[in-house]
Amino acid sequence: MRLPRALLCLLQAWLVVAQPPQLTINQVHSFSAANLPNPPTFSLPILSLSFISPGPNDLGQPNVYEIPPERHGSLDWHYDFSHCARRIWCTQQTSFELAVSNNTPSNGLIHEQLLTLPLLGDTTSNQAFLFSPPFSPPQGDFPTYPNYTLPPANLSVPAAPSSPPDFSIFVAPSTSSALASLPRTGCAMAAAQNGSQYVPSSGSQGLWLRDSDGWRWQWMLNFLSPLTNYTAYAVQNGTKVSEYVYFATKSAAFSCPILHSLPFCPSVSYAAPLPLPVDPSLGLTAADLPENMTTPLLSGLANFTTMLTTLACGRDEYSPLVTCVDCQAAYRAWLCLVSLPRCGEYPPSSSSSSAASFASASPTAQQPFPALQGVDASSPTRNANVPPAPGNYTALLPCLETCQAVDRACPPFLKFLCPVRQFTAADSYGVGYIDSGWAGEMGGGSTGTPADIWGNVWCNA
Ligand SMILES: *[C@@H]1O[C@H](CO)[C@@H](O)[C@H](O)[C@H]1NC(C)=O
Ligand SMILES: *[C@@H]1O[C@H](CO)[C@@H](O)[C@H](O)[C@H]1NC(C)=O
Ligand SMILES: *[C@@H]1O[C@H](CO)[C@@H](O)[C@H](O)[C@H]1NC(C)=O
Ligand SMILES: *[C@@H]1O[C@H](CO)[C@@H](O)[C@H](O)[C@H]1NC(C)=O
Ligand SMILES: *[C@@H]1O[C@H](CO)[C@@H](O)[C@H](O)[C@H]1NC(C)=O
Ligand SMILES: *[C@@H]1O[C@H](CO)[C@@H](O)[C@H](O)[C@H]1NC(C)=O
Ligand SMILES: *[C@@H]1O[C@H](CO)[C@@H](O)[C@H](O)[C@H]1NC(C)=O
Ligand SMILES: *[C@@H]1O[C@H](CO)[C@@H](O)[C@H](O)[C@H]1NC(C)=O
Repeated sequence: MRLPRALLCLLQAWLVVAQPPQLTINQVHSFSAANLPNPPTFSLPILSLSFISPGPNDLGQPNVYEIPPERHGSLDWHYDFSHCARRIWCTQQTSFELAVSNNTPSNGLIHEQLLTLPLLGDTTSNQAFLFSPPFSPPQGDFPTYPNYTLPPANLSVPAAPSSPPDFSIFVAPSTSSALASLPRTGCAMAAAQNGSQYVPSSGSQGLWLRDSDGWRWQWMLNFLSPLTNYTAYAVQNGTKVSEYVYFATKSAAFSCPILHSLPFCPSVSYAAPLPLPVDPSLGLTAADLPENMTTPLLSGLANFTTMLTTLACGRDEYSPLVTCVDCQAAYRAWLCLVSLPRCGEYPPSSSSSSAASFASASPTAQQPFPALQGVDASSPTRNANVPPAPGNYTALLPCLETCQAVDRACPPFLKFLCPVRQFTAADSYGVGYIDSGWAGEMGGGSTGTPADIWGNVWCNA
């Protein structure tokens, strides 16, 4: 008589193990030398599996599976146990997590490598403002004729998603030996100390809808070291680890605080030439902005919105691709960038900096120089909306493409004009980084992007 295959597996399993502790499906189990069962074997509600020490006799046996020590010791390994797997072994891990998922669409895999990235807002000499990967993109709620109402200039913060995914952030100096030996797992990162930071979402600056990519958790990290290159990972639900980004802190002389969480300028999260807040560890938010900065910004945006609604928004489409909402959003993004200047810093030359890792930040033939400009605080500013800075500073200019985005999204009757690429544009914008050539061939610029995941920032966008 031939036994069904599944039953055979089960029988073999019971021959190997008497009464192994059972793993609950879709739950994370943590083990260390102190609580590892002896023999290190577990059972599943339906099938059975073993976790055994490596032994030469087990090699090559049927139904014995080794977890390969992938990616710095991460146990990012999955096996479909519906095919009779009974025993797995693992290389020397002192503590580890084990989870068995039925991998349904609602549960998914419990431990996995996320392909998403955290996002850097900006850094100061000892702080970094970081975002989790995006989730819950905003639902398109576009106005239609005859009730075509554009969002007000003074936007309010929209209602946050009710059950956002849990994200934490892990940051460590890129060159630290602790990072080099750290397994890329959520539990290892949560346990890591000594010069690294692991910040749960509950210790964050909250949820923020930065742009159409969706909501993100945001964090202000303090107590970093000046002129240091850091590596950041986002960890979802304690178990799923994102790809990493690098970022570099500024020199100790850098004095601009980070401005963030402005409802009317949702994508602003960078160092601005403003007086330091009472509590520098929180950065500056809308309540700290001087009125002589917000009033002209909101008034300009309100005037533009009024002008825009004289157009038959939603009826006579001025373009098949863009609408009044797109025009207003592009104008808001541009106006925020030109009204709220960003501080930058000349990359230290390799001779003046002892940090060897930083030498690579000095420009070379391959690496373009960022769009920096020295600003004399005592001379009148080009933009009437910008009040004088508390002191001289180095500005990181907005990318010219942020201006051209308004030009493209808005109807011609508004006569919105950007400076001409080959003449005056470079006086007030970063030119040639994203788009190239006289005509501005899209994406053909020297960097193709305002900033990259290696910590380089070329222009403000
Ligand atoms: C028009 O739309 C706005 C926002 O979408 C809404 O608050 C308002 O009640 C609507 N007015 C009418 C007359 O439907
Ligand atoms: C913008 O709205 C907020 C409340 O949402 C209010 O506190 C603030 O005074 C408003 N700003 C201006 C300039 O009207
Ligand atoms: C941190 O480093 C110190 C000295 O280098 C060491 O004694 C301590 O055990 C470390 N702590 C952790 C949690 O690794
Ligand atoms: C997050 O983890 C908890 C406990 O480990 C689990 O109950 C929950 O379903 C997980 N959430 C997601 C979205 O994976
Ligand atoms: C907006 O329009 C009002 C009234 O016309 C004007 O007083 C104000 O200066 C304008 N604001 C800006 C920033 O141009
Ligand atoms: C600011 O820059 C101007 C022009 O470069 C210079 O004359 C002035 O002394 C500087 N002020 C300070 C406080 O450094
Ligand atoms: C703007 O306001 C701040 C404080 O409210 C003040 O110190 C500064 O002088 C003002 N600037 C102008 C140009 O009015
Ligand atoms: C940070 O370190 C990485 C790896 O060494 C390097 O690729 C990157 O350019 C560095 N970034 C900065 C801004 O120095």
